[in-house]
Amino acid sequence: MNILIVHGPNLHLLGTREPELYGSTTLKQLDARLKARAAGLNARLRCFQSNCEGEIIDIMTANAGWAHALIINPAAYTHYSYAIRDAIKALGLKAVEVHLTDILKRETFRKTSVIRPVCATQFKGEGTVSYMKALEYCVKNFKDN
Ligand code: DQA
Repeated sequence: MNILIVHGPNLHLLGTREPELYGSTTLKQLDARLKARAAGLNARLRCFQSNCEGEIIDIMTANAGWAHALIINPAAYTHYSYAIRDAIKALGLKAVEVHLTDILKRETFRKTSVIRPVCATQFKGEGTVSYMKALEYCVKNFKDN
């Protein structure tokens, strides 16, 4: 099974960005852990990070033919990017949304996800474990074809 992982804006700063909220694991370490777990689940990953909305859409478009599933942490775009939401739907991607933090327990503007309606489910509030759970969910629930 092929899984596309997309990390949104400011997630390149993981490890140093507000570690009390987002933890001390760097993005490189997170991707390495995800790849190791994926290998154990017989899945292949492509991992990308972008700070730009259009680039995220371009990455999803370029990989839509390869990916059987998308795991996306849209970061701040979660709360307002109808463009990313439309792209997930338009590309027919089977998607799971992830967040390191619990967006329901933070500022009011973070409580809304415009991405959630085009995703099968959402994992949040468990740091990097949110991503691991998303990976396991994809392997279990999205058949490759
Ligand atoms: C985040 C939550 C978002 O509100 C925030 O803008 C992020 C990270 C998370 O993983 O908890 O950049 O998506």
